[in-house]
Amino acid sequence: MHLRLTVNDAQHSAACRPDTRLLDYLRETLGLTGAKEGCGEGECGACAVLVDGVLVNSCLVPMGQLDGCRVQTVEGVPAESPLRRAFAAHGGTQCGICTPGMLMAATALLADHPHPDLAEIREGLAGNLCRCTGYTRIYAAVAAAAEEAAAQTHETHSRVG
Ligand code: FES
Ligand code: FES
Repeated sequence: MHLRLTVNDAQHSAACRPDTRLLDYLRETLGLTGAKEGCGEGECGACAVLVDGVLVNSCLVPMGQLDGCRVQTVEGVPAESPLRRAFAAHGGTQCGICTPGMLMAATALLADHPHPDLAEIREGLAGNLCRCTGYTRIYAAVAAAAEEAAAQTHETHSRVG
């Protein structure tokens, strides 16, 4: 089948079987290897991306469902974003396998809850497993990124006002 989709703001015309996994299309066809295959069964979140702003496990999403959709992967999260910098600054990444999925889950969380408390952060990242960090540093990174984003917004509004 042929379908059109947008990946990180670039338009693509894909020719593939409808049961091709989004994860394979991203990694093998587009060379976007940020999303990782952990379990391949929807259990770990290492392959998480956003489809039309919704967090999904790309190992479970067939390309046949994506005509006209907008996909964001970790490559679409700018290096200078508060989230990426906070993960580095707070030790939110060790081996790094879970990190792309964590960043996408956190992106979705902060879009819905710009000022999350710890319970909301835990819930927002509940579908993403990490075997290295014990999660505490990841939660701290997300909280710090939220604070920085809020401060940036406040500063922008102050300047405009
Ligand atoms: S690889 Fe997709 S959820 Fe684990
Ligand atoms: S940093 Fe290794 S699995 Fe999370």
